[in-house]
Amino acid sequence: MAAAGSAVGLGNIWRFPYLAGMNGGAAFVLVYILIVAVIGYPVMIAELSLGRRSQLNALGTFRKLAGGPWVAAGWLSVVIPFFILSFYGVVAGWTIKYTIMSFGSLMSDAAAGKAGDLFGAFIGNWQSVVFYQALFMLITIVIVAMGIEKGIEASCKFMMPLLYLILFVLIVRALTLPGGSAGLDFYLKPDFSKLTGKVILDALGQAFFSLSLGMGIMITYGSYLNKEENLPSSAALICLIDSSVAFFAGFAIFPGVFAMGLQPAQGPGLAFITCPAVFAQIPGGMFFSALFFILFFLAGLTSAISLLEVCTSYIIDELKWNRTKATWVVGLLITAVGIPSAMSLGGHIPTIRLFGADMGFMDVVEQVANNIGLPLVGIFVAVFAGWFWSNDAKMEITNNGTVSFGLWTPWLWICRVVAPLAIGLVLWSAL
Ligand code: PHE
Repeated sequence: MAAAGSAVGLGNIWRFPYLAGMNGGAAFVLVYILIVAVIGYPVMIAELSLGRRSQLNALGTFRKLAGGPWVAAGWLSVVIPFFILSFYGVVAGWTIKYTIMSFGSLMSDAAAGKAGDLFGAFIGNWQSVVFYQALFMLITIVIVAMGIEKGIEASCKFMMPLLYLILFVLIVRALTLPGGSAGLDFYLKPDFSKLTGKVILDALGQAFFSLSLGMGIMITYGSYLNKEENLPSSAALICLIDSSVAFFAGFAIFPGVFAMGLQPAQGPGLAFITCPAVFAQIPGGMFFSALFFILFFLAGLTSAISLLEVCTSYIIDELKWNRTKATWVVGLLITAVGIPSAMSLGGHIPTIRLFGADMGFMDVVEQVANNIGLPLVGIFVAVFAGWFWSNDAKMEITNNGTVSFGLWTPWLWICRVVAPLAIGLVLWSAL
């Protein structure tokens, strides 16, 4: 459940719907589900079993079990969370701003059709975006520096069901809005002419990001699992919970988008524009909106804590710094690296050309870290587990032969051939 808690974050409610919207809707959703089942699930099993065997963090795991060039995967899985947290903090900062705005004129403005203008004005004011990013990062740093993240995570486990409940209210309202069914068509009826290499690449990167794969997180969680735990069913549960939250978020958003005459392909602002617009159509919308953004904030906070913890614990282990110093130095560095991301959304810094498009700085960091970095670590994990570690993997996955794993042969060949080949091809074609 803790691993599922790490997996569920901004990625499910903010990033999944916005990518689905930009990539043509249902075709993206279908490819995403396929990738989670065929690549995400086997890689999740591999990461959990590596961690449970080594009883160490990601870098330690690659050093102890693999050594040699494999240690590069361990390095990557420390560097990538650094960059991911840099933009994650920006978006999480928006949830603070929106919580505060919920108590102000957000509902009346949204009811007047101004939710989009409001968002545009907010991200256009980069000082304000950086302020909320810094505030969010400060909260994260203080928690990690004090070493109290376990307490926060435990309490969030009780609050997450509340988030699903509000999501459910949002879904019911969105689905009953006149004109909402066009959103369902967009979300559920695939138009395969929309399927391009870039759509598949986005789905692949999002699958790794959302499942918290390729960052050493699941290796670390694997090291906490006891030896009786059934790894394939734990991995299945994590994938199922994470994907269903993302899938449901789409049901809350797309009917709303079409009923309100909004654009599905508008990008990162999608959830922040659509959700208030739908809440404004509910009696007591202010209450629901405030509660929703508070819970959204907490979902982001728990994920940010684990991202910062990966970087911090690495510094503590390697450089022997104390926790306070390590956390503050790394946390402030990440915040600084996030500032250009915060500024790029309002167009305050020049765009960069990548994948044949002009992108803002935040887009670039997001795409390089999620679409290239994470799948690359995924290849390392799959190839290592499938070709060089399969005897130990079999012992670990079957708890030394005491539980059966009917999917052993498919798992092995997915790790050996299918996953590396598929990921390699997608990266190759997109690059
Ligand atoms: N999976 C989280 C999300 O979807 C992001 C995350 C990645 C959190 C890695 C922790 C570690 O928001």
